[in-house]
Formats: sequence, C-alpha cells, structure tokens
Amino acid sequence: MSDKITIAIDGYSSCGKSTLARELAKSLHYVFIDSGAMYRGVTLFALRNGGIANRELNRGLLISMLDQIELKFVLNPETKSPELLLNGENVESNIRTPEIASFVSEVAAIKEVRTKLVAEQQQMGNQGGIVMDGRDIGSVVFPSAELKLFITAEIEIRVERRYQELIFRGTPTSRDDVRENLLRRDHIDSTRKESPLIQTSDAILVDNTKLSKSEQLEVAEQFVERAISTLA
Ligand code: DC
Repeated sequence: MSDKITIAIDGYSSCGKSTLARELAKSLHYVFIDSGAMYRGVTLFALRNGGIANRELNRGLLISMLDQIELKFVLNPETKSPELLLNGENVESNIRTPEIASFVSEVAAIKEVRTKLVAEQQQMGNQGGIVMDGRDIGSVVFPSAELKLFITAEIEIRVERRYQELIFRGTPTSRDDVRENLLRRDHIDSTRKESPLIQTSDAILVDNTKLSKSEQLEVAEQFVERAISTLA
C-alpha cells in the first residue's frame, strides 16, 4: 500500500495556507495545488470576457461561459512551484491583483463554478500524494483526506503578510484596504450557501500567529508523520 497520503489545508484568506502547502509538498515530494488560484482564474476570465462588467458580476453570463474555461497547472522550473494556465496562458501574476481579490469571493460562491472546480480538483488528487489548500478541501473536495489542517492567525498578522506580499509585487495598496478586503472575503467565504468555509471536526487547528514559516512547517511535518504512522 502506498504511504502517500492526501493532505487538506483550509482556513481564512492570507493565513499562510498556500505557503505551508507549497513547502510541505516540496519536503514530501508531493503535488501542491493552490485551489484558490483556480477560483482566481475563473474570476480573471470573467473580467476579460464580460462576466464582470462595470464592477458587476453577471452570474448567468459567467455560468454560460464556464465550459470555455480550461485551467491547468505547470511547474515553474526555477521556483519549482505550480503556476496557473488559463486556456494555455500563464496567468500566475495576473490573478494576484487587488482587482481579482475584490471579486473572487462572489465568483467562488456560485454553485456551478464550484461544481466544475471541485470535480477538477478531485481528479488532480485521485492518486494521493497531494497537498491542496483552500476553503472546502477537508469538507467537500477530499472529505476522506488522511490529514486535515485548519490554519488560523490573528487578523493584524494576516493584514501585514498580505500587505507586504502586494508591496513586494509592486502593487500599490494600503493596510486599511487589505484589511477591508480580507474581512469581506472571510465573511462571504464563511457565510455562503455553497460549501462555506468550516473547520471539520476531524481537522487539526494550527494557529500560526507566532510561528515562523519554518516552525509552521515543522509542526505540520509532525502531523504528517503521525498520520502516516497510523496507516501502517
Ligand atoms: O486562497 P485564495 O485567497 O487565493 O482564494 C481566493 C478565493 O477563492 C477566496 O476568497 C475563497 C475562494 N476559494 C474557495 O471558495 N474555495 C477554495 N477551495 C479556495 C478558494
């Protein structure tokens, strides 16, 4: 029996889920999938094709265009991280903007969008050996994942991390704008009708407010070891 497990990492926006999932996948030689990138990819497609116009989301139009959207990941040979392809175009930097962040939660609340992306995510993980982060990974995408982590951190730490990330990318923003966007997305993501963000009863809570990246990775690696040892 393969000892490659499935690892689901969920939590609020900018809690460091993707950073942890990426590092964990590297250290375990697993596949890493940032499911939020896929919702961002659909949002970018909507912005470019009239599904979002005049700052309004046209749900019906976006739903009717869903079968024109092809999402894939390719490995960046330098960073060894997966990057998103939208209909063949590498859009990794286009999907990390405040504009995408301001619409993505509304797009992710659409049932038809979730049905499409969840099916694709389940397909990507059907061999195990995957670390996927998002909002519904432990609850909907991989409910039988051998390890589920729910990541949390204090809001001001999350604001600072996202603010620094945007500044590093050269995107002008303010801490107040970042805070407002995070709180708005937290609210939409956890109160929406379709698979809201929840901590499942079998998920382990990790508060990384006071943890460095390497400390957080160490904590997660201990949970992985424990999960694998209970399989043997
Ligand atoms: O992790 P992120 O900030 O890149 O995610 C972008 C948005 O996508 C987030 O506001 C909620 C949504 N999302 C979701 O609903 N389900 C997922 N599995 C991943 C992300």
